[in-house]
Amino acid sequence: MAKNKTNKIEKKPIKITETILRDAHQSLIATRMTTEQMLPIVEKMDKVGYHSVECWGGATFDASLRFLKEDPWERLRKFRDGFKNTKLQMLFRGQNILGYRPYADDVVEYFVQKSVANGIDIIRIFDCLNDLRNLQTAVTAAVKEKADAQVALSYTLGDAYTMDYWMDIAKRIEDMGATSICIKDMAGLLVPYKATELVENMKAATKLPIQLHTHYTSGVASMTYLKAVEAGVDVIDTAMSPFALGTSQPATEVMVETFKGTPYDTGFDQNLLAEIADYFRPIRDEALESGLLNPKNLGVNIKTLLYQVPGGMLSNLTSQLKEQGAEDKYYDVLEEVPKVRKDLGEPPLVTPSSQIVGTQAVFNVLMGERYKMATKETKDVLRGKYGATVKPFNPEVVKKCIGDEKQITCRPADLLDAELDTLRGEMAQWSQQEEDVLSYALFPQVATEFFKYREAQQTGVDQAIADTENGSYPV
Ligand code: CO
Repeated sequence: MAKNKTNKIEKKPIKITETILRDAHQSLIATRMTTEQMLPIVEKMDKVGYHSVECWGGATFDASLRFLKEDPWERLRKFRDGFKNTKLQMLFRGQNILGYRPYADDVVEYFVQKSVANGIDIIRIFDCLNDLRNLQTAVTAAVKEKADAQVALSYTLGDAYTMDYWMDIAKRIEDMGATSICIKDMAGLLVPYKATELVENMKAATKLPIQLHTHYTSGVASMTYLKAVEAGVDVIDTAMSPFALGTSQPATEVMVETFKGTPYDTGFDQNLLAEIADYFRPIRDEALESGLLNPKNLGVNIKTLLYQVPGGMLSNLTSQLKEQGAEDKYYDVLEEVPKVRKDLGEPPLVTPSSQIVGTQAVFNVLMGERYKMATKETKDVLRGKYGATVKPFNPEVVKKCIGDEKQITCRPADLLDAELDTLRGEMAQWSQQEEDVLSYALFPQVATEFFKYREAQQTGVDQAIADTENGSYPV
């Protein structure tokens, strides 16, 4: 515990990022919470005293356009109007922005600019390979827009990920101009005493504030937070109890109570938190009833520790095998996953590397011969198109999948031409706001469908008004 010279315990209130408006519902109910469901509680959430509210980015953008028929930019502006005192935070996939392929720098820069202009204060930027070159453009753009540029390290286990690795990369993040560091433990692999060691060492390596993000999947998360806070971590990510635990984060109220009366006391009002929880509970009940919230995702999944695979990846594997009628191969695939990961340079397993490794493992098992069939994405990893991995690729696998093709070693985006103007040209007929080109850049088909829907809605409304004015509307 931190003590000052007079031996009195120093106060160091732990800061909290609330995730219920982004990661919590992404992890538990497939990102289906609507803006309409969120807005009524914003005023109360704004009074809590959160360090920040994570409310945008990740899968929220895709899900808004694709499933909810909502403009994600409009959602962000409404949050900005409602949260008058609280910082708004988003999750950003480095050079992939919020999509699944690398974009040219001009698109990354414009996306950051518009995110900040529409209300984002903190941009949490990560790369699935922890290749910092893939983060530099977004970090520099965020700093230029005067936002907080937080670099998130995808936490993982493996031979390459020694304490020296984490300390060295923390220093390099500081050097690249980031304003804080997040340890992003998407699979819940960080166990309590390891957290003590990791946080103490990273604190020694950098002056930047350190935030810890974990998931409850393996059941250790709140203990991990306790040890991390005692070791000096500055911020933790939690979710209000109705959407906490399981594949989501530890519960906000529980962590607040844990630190009450200690030097880490948040000072949050439990009565206010209870009112907020009361608001979200019927939304949870409804999701349980409709099947959107699967009770399976609320328990402890110890396999995630055994196989070091994120919970979301486990459920993807199950559904891929089900489609192929090969559910009996589940454990074979689980054993293949770490082998594929090693072949591909031992990357962390997070979007999109988790999907790439998982799908290739399924192919390797189902085809009865490893890499008999390599996916395009596996080949692109081996070509260097996603960036540099910590360990070298397995040369035999490289040979079998891409033969003597040339591999790139530069920053992948250096090979991409500016693309914003082309994209503008392609979607000009649908544009109603400057941000539309960015929605289109990320999800061309889905965004076009949304633009058509939006136009139809507007025409429908215009027609209804005209009908009323003509007196032909039924009274
Ligand atoms: Co997460």
